[in-house]
Amino acid sequence: MLAGKRILLIIGGGIAAFKSLDLIRRLRESGATVVPVLTKASEEFVTPLSVSALSAEKVYRDLFDLTDEAEMGHIELSRAADLVVVAPATADLMGKMAAGLANDLASTLLMATDKRVLIAPSMNVRMWEHSATVRNFATLKGDGVLFVGPNEGSMACGEFGPGRMAEPMEIVAAVEAAIADGPLNGKHVLVTSGPTHEPIDPVRYIANRSSGAQGTAIAQALSALGAEVTFVTGPADVSPPAGVRVIEVQTAREMLAAVQAAMPADAAVFAAAVADWRMAEETTSKMKKDGKGSLPVLNFAENPDILATVSQMKKGRPDLVVGFAAETDDVVKNATAKRKRKGCDWIVANDVSPETGIMGGSENAVVVIKADGAEDWPRMGKDQVATRLAAAIAEALD
Ligand code: CTP
Repeated sequence: MLAGKRILLIIGGGIAAFKSLDLIRRLRESGATVVPVLTKASEEFVTPLSVSALSAEKVYRDLFDLTDEAEMGHIELSRAADLVVVAPATADLMGKMAAGLANDLASTLLMATDKRVLIAPSMNVRMWEHSATVRNFATLKGDGVLFVGPNEGSMACGEFGPGRMAEPMEIVAAVEAAIADGPLNGKHVLVTSGPTHEPIDPVRYIANRSSGAQGTAIAQALSALGAEVTFVTGPADVSPPAGVRVIEVQTAREMLAAVQAAMPADAAVFAAAVADWRMAEETTSKMKKDGKGSLPVLNFAENPDILATVSQMKKGRPDLVVGFAAETDDVVKNATAKRKRKGCDWIVANDVSPETGIMGGSENAVVVIKADGAEDWPRMGKDQVATRLAAAIAEALD
């Protein structure tokens, strides 16, 4: 899967560094060349000799090592790779990356690279939950850095919670997703997914039954064909796919803003079940019963239509815009009208009547409506719908 690919692996100074030795083996088994870089702190956990023996490559350690500069300068080193991976990514390294510091070899390479960066955070749960790390995480995601993990579990320090580095095979899967070869190489595809939550008051919200399964599967399938995927997701039940850029939102308006910020894109797939309405006025205090049995009146306002907004962009519209239509009656007729009304190129229509078990289930039966007519796909797993749709998108963009 990674044959001919070159990974620049930066090993940070954390207890999980021992797992990076196994990661090197796994990446090499998958066909990759692994060029290791050690930080000063990581040498307290793994030795240059073991890293070099496992990678069968020279280990890079020091920014001011003139021999290395003669052989390969740090700028060149950062660019000769297909992907830069940081595992483990400590709180310190994340902080440096977010702040743009470049005071040692690892941080300089991260600043100088023109390749995508995938990081596997690893730290104590309190450090992961510290407001500084939360801020840095958000900044790095905004910068397009890809994440794998951290996972939840017991830690070397004896505490339990999120902060454990992802397992080597999970990291390999994320690397494969990030640099897959395929017909969508060089294409940026945006995918929206999941429900949106529209607050009623600080404790209640309007939601829907979307699990995010179909959108997640589509993002994964597009990434497997080599696309660079931006995945904008509401609060979904399923975890976002590895190796794609994830932007988490709550409301329809946040989703629209995230979509607009992620442009330009070659194609966009709108699989999210966006709430059509939100509360007309935002309340900052909790609504209370008045004790006399009178019922609250909720005043709604219409949410922006994200699919229609993008489909009707005058400048910079993606070459292919794909919408979904969740219908309970007259599926093809309603979805055909929806395609026209919103101005998208394709509509993937499905029947979400409760008896179909599609909303929240693992299967889907869709009709794909294009300008020249409707194509009926048999009922199949959401993963298979995703694979077929991704292949059709690749063909259309070719
Ligand atoms: N959609 C969107 N923004 C909205 C509402 C819907 O981007 N505010 C997108 C969905 O992601 C989907 C498509 O529009 O791709 C159709 O969604 P659907 O819920 O079927 O249609 P609605 O526009 O809500 O129309 P209606 O409720 O009248 O069926």
